[in-house]
Amino acid sequence: MSTITSLLVVLLAVAASSAAGVAGDGGNKLKHIHLYMHETFWGENATEGAMLPSPFGPNATFGSMGVFDNELRTGLNRDSPLVARYQGIIVATGVAEGPALEGRLTVASILFIAGEYNGSALSLEGPFVGFQGTMERSIVGGNGKFRMARGYYLLKLLNLTSPNSAVSEIDFYVLPADPSYL
Ligand SMILES: *[C@@H]1O[C@H](CO)[C@@H](O)[C@H](O)[C@H]1NC(C)=O
Ligand SMILES: *[C@@H]1O[C@H](CO)[C@@H](O)[C@H](O)[C@H]1NC(C)=O
Ligand SMILES: *[C@@H]1O[C@H](CO)[C@@H](O)[C@H](O)[C@H]1NC(C)=O
Ligand SMILES: *[C@@H]1O[C@H](CO)[C@@H](O)[C@H](O)[C@H]1NC(C)=O
Repeated sequence: MSTITSLLVVLLAVAASSAAGVAGDGGNKLKHIHLYMHETFWGENATEGAMLPSPFGPNATFGSMGVFDNELRTGLNRDSPLVARYQGIIVATGVAEGPALEGRLTVASILFIAGEYNGSALSLEGPFVGFQGTMERSIVGGNGKFRMARGYYLLKLLNLTSPNSAVSEIDFYVLPADPSYL
């Protein structure tokens, strides 16, 4: 086998094993963390601020902004253990109107406050367009056990919405920079 061919074989093997959730070197595994996000829209225990209006007038969304501090719990039930807080901001960054163009940028931290990752955090960044289906955002880093981590998360709104609350399923897929951190 030529060097080029064998390099290609190695690259393909790494790609295949990454797709299966296992990176090539060091046994560095994609970590799956499954939690439920609980949101409260208003009242004394609200976890979200209403969007601040756009500076461009009542019919514009561009520049409107909200802040949230949602709860990540182990279960669907509000009484299930609290593991992390999902704190961040969301800003309407699309200047054009219309459902496909009203991009919203979220910048957030997942602050683990219990369990095996207590004291560590993930940093998230990413847009989303519309509130339908499963949303995906990037994990662009972290600290503590997640120092220099990368990955993504999937968030799916569940059919448990009350006028004042919502529950979503949230799946993090995290590749720690060094498995010895975990
Ligand atoms: C808010 O949370 C506190 C502490 O958990 C609780 O005692 C109180 O009943 C909650 N209030 C509402 C309106 O849910
Ligand atoms: C906002 O839209 C409404 C309905 O289309 C219109 O009547 C109103 O004049 C608009 N307001 C501004 C400030 O553009
Ligand atoms: C999480 O870590 C903090 C700081 O080390 C500690 O005070 C707290 O008791 C821990 N919480 C849990 C639930 O382990
Ligand atoms: C959500 O649940 C309600 C009542 O439990 C039901 O009527 C409705 O069809 C459900 N919607 C979806 C999209 O599953």
